[in-house]
Amino acid sequence: MSAGTVGSESGSESESPAGAGSAAGSAGAGSAGAGSAAVRSAGAGSAGAAAVATVEEEWRGVAAEDVEELDHTTGVKLKARSRKLLGSLLRPHSRAAVLALVIVIAENLVNLAGPLLIAVAIDRGVPAALAGQPGVLTWCVGGYVGCALAATVLRWAFVRLSGRIGQDLLLDLRERIFRHAQRLSVSFHEKYTSGKVISRLTSDVDSLQDLLEQGLDGFFTSMLSVIGISIVMLTLDPPLAMAVLFGFVPLLMLIRWFQRRSTRAYRGTRGAIAKIIVQFVETMNGIRAVQAFRRESRNKNIMGELNDKFRDANTDAFKVVATFTSLVRVIGNVSLAVIVAWGAYRVADGQLELGVLAAFTLYVRRFYDPFDEIAMFANSYASATAALEKISGLLEEEPAVPEPDDPVPLGDVRGHVTFDGVEFRYSATTPVVLPPFDLAVPAGQTVALVGATGAGKSTLAKLVGRFYDPSHGAVLLDGVDLRSVTDADLRRAVVMVTQENFLFDGSVADNIALGRPTATRAEIEEAARAVGAHEFIAALPDGYDTDVRKRGGRLSAGQRQMVAFARAFLADPAVLVLDEATSSLDVPSERLVQGALETVLASRTAFIIAHRLSTVMIADRVLVLDGGRVVEDGTPEELIDGRGQFAALHTAWRDSLA
Ligand SMILES: Nc1ncnc2c1ncn2[C@@H]1O[C@H](COP(=O)(O)OP(=O)(O)OP(=O)(O)O)[C@@H](O)[C@H]1O
Ligand SMILES: [Mg+2]
Repeated sequence: MSAGTVGSESGSESESPAGAGSAAGSAGAGSAGAGSAAVRSAGAGSAGAAAVATVEEEWRGVAAEDVEELDHTTGVKLKARSRKLLGSLLRPHSRAAVLALVIVIAENLVNLAGPLLIAVAIDRGVPAALAGQPGVLTWCVGGYVGCALAATVLRWAFVRLSGRIGQDLLLDLRERIFRHAQRLSVSFHEKYTSGKVISRLTSDVDSLQDLLEQGLDGFFTSMLSVIGISIVMLTLDPPLAMAVLFGFVPLLMLIRWFQRRSTRAYRGTRGAIAKIIVQFVETMNGIRAVQAFRRESRNKNIMGELNDKFRDANTDAFKVVATFTSLVRVIGNVSLAVIVAWGAYRVADGQLELGVLAAFTLYVRRFYDPFDEIAMFANSYASATAALEKISGLLEEEPAVPEPDDPVPLGDVRGHVTFDGVEFRYSATTPVVLPPFDLAVPAGQTVALVGATGAGKSTLAKLVGRFYDPSHGAVLLDGVDLRSVTDADLRRAVVMVTQENFLFDGSVADNIALGRPTATRAEIEEAARAVGAHEFIAALPDGYDTDVRKRGGRLSAGQRQMVAFARAFLADPAVLVLDEATSSLDVPSERLVQGALETVLASRTAFIIAHRLSTVMIADRVLVLDGGRVVEDGTPEELIDGRGQFAALHTAWRDSLA
């Protein structure tokens, strides 16, 4: 959406650094939930929908993100949502995944054969060899070597295949997150902050990567070896096998406990790392203000606290792992002791062959070893589910200003703008900014919006550009509700230039061409000339090819505005919205732009917000806003002759000039 915006809001991270620090805990979480409820209700546009949405919002989308303790049903819903996402990511790879599974099963079978061959070698091969018949022993040794070779090849194939599946899946996920985050409306990003999106895209995807690269492999291998060993032991000697399997009872209890605790611990680490990234991004984005206002030490403290929290959350997770692995060892060693003692007694009694006992001790070792792996898997699984929970929440968010299901084509736009019973508030919990009003702006009219700061001028302008939908009523362009217009049509018809002009990394020409990507260099220069920007651009080291650097840092604020103007003129929209677009220009430049403005505005509908009355005077019509209401409406001359706010403003301005 921002591609069509000439000046998008660059500094609109709404969560303050201090807020990031205090957002933990249920209070922050509650308000986050209410906030997103509001976005939805604004989209739905009715009070009834708002009530339903609030109930739904407790777990939908990103609402449950900051909640530390989940109730049972919410947890179940979040898990189901994560599984659905994982399923949809895996589906394209189902064949390869099955193949990987077959390979890993084969590898385990081959591995299982080892101790069995040793048992046969001891019990049959060695006595036979001593009797002068080395055949069996040779076969056993040969078989053992063959198995080892096969295991190597199978391992190689598995790692290659699973690595490819994993990487494809992660690529898909990263693309989905980026595409979706870009599609979400401005109102969502005002609340969610770019730091959070970054942590979804980086640390959360990373933890899924850990699961895919190590966790899953270890888990399959371990599960298969536990099952395989159980079967082999049961066939070798059922009584001894039962003794080993008896250890399962405490083991299962331990696993349950571990799962519960580690899931909780990892929800904590995910939340903590996200907050660290948010804080970091915010500090770096606002580095000028941070240094200018000496906020470094305060930021350092906030960061220190967050880092402490992250470390504590991780330490907690490791404590759980430590307890689990050591208890598994205890169970394993007790089992082994029981097997050796009881087995030796039975060997002495002649009920058991020595080779079988030797195989059993090997198997018991191997039987308990995988539980370390299983613990590691459960660990990365817990971390990945917490991450998936958050990613799936972000992916589930719907744009607050969605694309229409049934778009009405605009065709040739004339630029007739109508506000039909429009009422607006930013969210269900914030006060009404624009009380219900009707307004008709005929095509071609230039309307100046005047009023005190906070009166609602920018809000009204943003409704024309459909950055938000009205809470009630409709904004119409040529009689078509903006909600029925496709994004592409809308951005072609309505262009907004604001005070915060966002320039992208690239040349000046590229940045102007954003208004119309197909424009030739001649057209770009013509647009720059029209707004009086040509001189300064030509004087830059590389002229139009000069790199503007990150956010246009190479240019002055006034120069950035000129570039944004040229962009808008090149876009040639039917409706132009200028929100304090000339505020950074010096008086001569503003005169220059104003000269151009008059010719350019003549052929289109325009909404101009400007604090300088010289700019307002070129309008056909002035609307004075007060507390979101239109209190005066007329031509500049009419209003000056009256006795209202505008007349007073004009008198003060004229006196200041004298
Ligand atoms: N994203 C937002 N979320 C919630 N409230 C907002 C948001 N943006 C603006 N407001 C509120 O809406 C009201 C109108 O703001 P608006 O930006 O439209 O004022 P304005 O007339 O453009 O003022 P200015 O001349 O200072 O630019 C203000 O009270 C403001 O606090
Ligand atoms: Mg404003």
